[in-house]
Amino acid sequence: MDKKYFPLVAAFCLAIGFAGVAVLYQFSVAGKGSGGNSIVAPNFGGPFELTDHTGQGVTEKDYQGYRLIYFGFTFCPAICPTELAKMTEVLNALGEKGEQITPIFITVDPERDTQEVMAQYRTLFHPRLVGLTGTPEQIEQVTKAYKVYYAKVDDPSLSEYTMDHSSYIYFMDPENTLLALYKIDQTAEEIVKDIKTRL
Ligand code: NI
Repeated sequence: MDKKYFPLVAAFCLAIGFAGVAVLYQFSVAGKGSGGNSIVAPNFGGPFELTDHTGQGVTEKDYQGYRLIYFGFTFCPAICPTELAKMTEVLNALGEKGEQITPIFITVDPERDTQEVMAQYRTLFHPRLVGLTGTPEQIEQVTKAYKVYYAKVDDPSLSEYTMDHSSYIYFMDPENTLLALYKIDQTAEEIVKDIKTRL
């Protein structure tokens, strides 16, 4: 992509990161427990049917342990790769403890993020990272279930469309409790510290 558009697209991503805070704020408020670790929401997410980066059809039943889930798109110039790199750093820092966590990247841009694109992109990150894509309808369903905001932005001054999207790393437990939503300003170190208290 043309370098001169980079700040604009990055700003889009960033603005949406903040907009997403408002969308999900209700969960973090509702989920504050008394004492111990707070949780964000019980029985979070829901059923989905998607295709993994190997071309295998999958559902939520294939991922029932601890999960770190990120929604984004491979053409994202800044935020998505930063967050996926952060997820990788977190899992590496957790060492053996991290092996019980499945890292998952779900695209909000199924038009461009085909299985082949996802298979290629995931190699930049954690070796166990699962890349999931699907039909536009399937992506709409899973993003609804996870309260993800996303929208296609067709700016005529850009050669390629971009995507607005909320940006969180979801930490889910085997009972589908959303334990934490890590925001873009949280460091890998802070996330590792939090996860260690919850495993
Ligand atoms: Ni992004």
